[in-house]
Amino acid sequence: MEITAAQKLRGEVIIPGDKSISHRAVMLGSIAKGTTEITNFLQGADCLATIQCFKNLGIDINHTPARILIRGKGLHGLKKPADTLNTGNSGTTTRLISGILAGQSFSTILSGDESLNSRPMARIIEPLNSMGAHISSINRNGCAPLQIEPGNLHSIHHKSNVASAQVKSAVLLAGLYADDVTSVTEPVLSRNHTELMLNCFGARVSARREKDGQATASVLPCEELYGQKIIVPGDISSAAYFIAAGLLVPESELLIRNVGINPTRAGILTICEQMGADITYLNKTSAGGEPTADILVKHSSLKAAVIEGSIIPTLIDEIPIIAVMAAFAEGTTIIRDAAELKVKETNRIDTITENLKAMGGDITPTRDGMIIQGAGVLKGTHINSHQDHRIAMAFAIAGLVADRNTIIEESRCVDVSYPGFFETLNTLKY
Ligand code: S3P
Repeated sequence: MEITAAQKLRGEVIIPGDKSISHRAVMLGSIAKGTTEITNFLQGADCLATIQCFKNLGIDINHTPARILIRGKGLHGLKKPADTLNTGNSGTTTRLISGILAGQSFSTILSGDESLNSRPMARIIEPLNSMGAHISSINRNGCAPLQIEPGNLHSIHHKSNVASAQVKSAVLLAGLYADDVTSVTEPVLSRNHTELMLNCFGARVSARREKDGQATASVLPCEELYGQKIIVPGDISSAAYFIAAGLLVPESELLIRNVGINPTRAGILTICEQMGADITYLNKTSAGGEPTADILVKHSSLKAAVIEGSIIPTLIDEIPIIAVMAAFAEGTTIIRDAAELKVKETNRIDTITENLKAMGGDITPTRDGMIIQGAGVLKGTHINSHQDHRIAMAFAIAGLVADRNTIIEESRCVDVSYPGFFETLNTLKY
């Protein structure tokens, strides 16, 4: 995909559904009793992989562009799939479904694409096996493909050394099938969509924060979940590209509609404010415990920020686009405590550094983040997305303010989380 510089951006963007929430709605709908209706579901490749997995597990899922209808079969209604479940590029599908499959009476194999099959799974295998699950890495390398054999689950208290919603969710979902209260303590609170949605479906989940910032979520074993109507808010991780575009491109004014602003996801907004962004929130509302707003963004002169500590899990997926903003911010932006970047769809410390350097940016990678000097200019070049959707979209935005055309290689990977991204971007350009 070739990106040309924009003179200004004007107009409205309706943000597609949240990826994390879309996955969870399909999963809980499938193991609930009765019908679940999901609107504004993200039709991205990752969430479609989740749908296909549950279809292969015997769930009747009717899928139209307007809505997803799931005829849930209850906590024990899944059927042994005929074949390996293909989780594609999706870490969320793989890790969360493992928590559910650990509690079934049949065996399954999970496998994904090359990137997925190189991401760490020991972080879920270990706590789930300590609950009595029988999960193994088929190649004995701590990664998928995973073999999941039936097991009788009992409750645990898991102390996670990473703030990962995928780990927390896998353990909480397995906890539905356990014999007593299952809890997970993480060093810093990660996104809490599983806790919120489990409560909507009738499970009993509680959450508490300790004084030192640690967070604990607990779930009681459950007889039954009940089908719900879920309206998925727009994905702030997708909105982030347009927020950055509106801030960076001169004379821009963008209205970004229906953005989920759950505080466990909204770190990018806090950082934008610290960087001096002109952002206004309109039409604030909330459904199923998930707050949303329309966001009005105007071109702004940005200043550098230090991004570290407990805010990191709330913006971990937005660091590629924050790095692009930092290249245009006055001063030195420091990002630390973000070693989790190394185990995303690509090692994002490496892929951000490679591409920002290729555009002439001043970036130094560190052990757990990066340091970026805001030089205020980037030059267009070939961007190697390494098939990472967030790298492709972040550098497409950089291309809007670069001084020559930018070519994003393997740009179709944006379909993982934002089909139609480039088309939407084109409607805003002047
Ligand atoms: C997600 C959690 C985060 C995030 C990912 C989606 C989720 O991953 O990066 O894109 O839906 O739970 P980790 O749990 O590995 O931090």
